[in-house]
Amino acid sequence: MFYSRAQITKLFSVDEHSLVSTQDLMDGEKQKLYPKARRNDQDDRRVLGWASEDLHALGRQFGFLRPASDGPLVYSFFVTKGGVLKTALALNLARMCALHGLRTCVVGLDMQCDITTALGHLSELESDDLEAAVRWMEQTRGLYDVFAGRLEVKQAILETDLPNLFYIPETPELVALEQGLLHRPRREYWLQETVIKPLAQQFEVIVLDCSPNWNQLITNALVASDVLISPLECKINNFRNFKMFRNFITQVRQDLRLNFRQFYIPTRLTTSRRLSRDIFEWYQTNVAECLPLAIKDHTQGEEATAMHLAVPEYAPGTPAALEMNQFLRAIWLPNLLTDAPQPKPEIRHLAESEPRGEPGIWPS
Ligand SMILES: Nc1ncnc2c1ncn2[C@@H]1O[C@H](COP(=O)(O)OP(=O)(O)OP(=O)(O)O)[C@@H](O)[C@H]1O
Ligand SMILES: [Mg+2]
Repeated sequence: MFYSRAQITKLFSVDEHSLVSTQDLMDGEKQKLYPKARRNDQDDRRVLGWASEDLHALGRQFGFLRPASDGPLVYSFFVTKGGVLKTALALNLARMCALHGLRTCVVGLDMQCDITTALGHLSELESDDLEAAVRWMEQTRGLYDVFAGRLEVKQAILETDLPNLFYIPETPELVALEQGLLHRPRREYWLQETVIKPLAQQFEVIVLDCSPNWNQLITNALVASDVLISPLECKINNFRNFKMFRNFITQVRQDLRLNFRQFYIPTRLTTSRRLSRDIFEWYQTNVAECLPLAIKDHTQGEEATAMHLAVPEYAPGTPAALEMNQFLRAIWLPNLLTDAPQPKPEIRHLAESEPRGEPGIWPS
């Protein structure tokens, strides 16, 4: 992708009044803070700008995701509900971090392999031939190979189209890894000790994309996390599921003495539907950890994921892109530490009729 100066001002914006001006961009070029804008070879128009792979230097200068001062940040995306944008949000965080010049590694933990696909893994496949495709898939090695002692973590890391973005691909053998973990001592800590620790020496951000089913890999992800992001669909079928999920999270947090930050983000809000709006309001009123914003249902979100891009990269400056940037800024821990102190949100209790999670029924 190629971005003109005008598009860059929008890519790193969080509201309609862009923080970066084209004059700011030109000043940075003069001061040699990043490469000079150049012409796009694939476009006849004489527009000056930068290609995706050069954006990290601009992001570092003008972006809203500042590096953390005390070691890498581990973000997990998990909730026990499918199709609520866990993978889409994980992809957006990972790509935008990389575009901010932060060395980022995605570790997919879902046997469906969605984030691996969303990162463009399959698009590297050069032929349409089924046999070649199967051979290529079988050559992909991931966390199970690390678990089995056949591969070191650093050998499992693959590159992407962005210079600061890397990933460990998901493979169907994650099922075997999950089962294998059940029979190990300290099974909840395998990911943290074997995978995250070595990655922490190389990366500033680690993004874990989880499956919707709670299994041993999820417990491992929670143990390793600084921040848990749980999307809450603004649809009626998510309601009961959410209350159960919240009880499970409280339980696992207590049992394993975990202290990750948790944010709920309402997703798939359809503003034209009253029920969807009412559910959004309910989350805002009743869920203290819920962010005061939502990811709406829109085709640009779908298209960006299909193109292996973050929404702000795909459609900079659109309401969909601004909404995504606002979400990313809101969950970015270093911003929370440096931003002006916010009044503590009032803690609201769920109704008495809420179903209680039974102790000890989350997978151990
Ligand atoms: N803003 C959006 N509006 C509507 N659809 C979107 C939006 N963003 C992404 N999508 C699409 O929604 C679909 C489901 O999203 P996604 O795969 O991220 O859900 P998930 O919670 O990870 O699902 P699973 O539990 O199966 O892993 C994807 O096809 C994605 O492209
Ligand atoms: Mg997913």
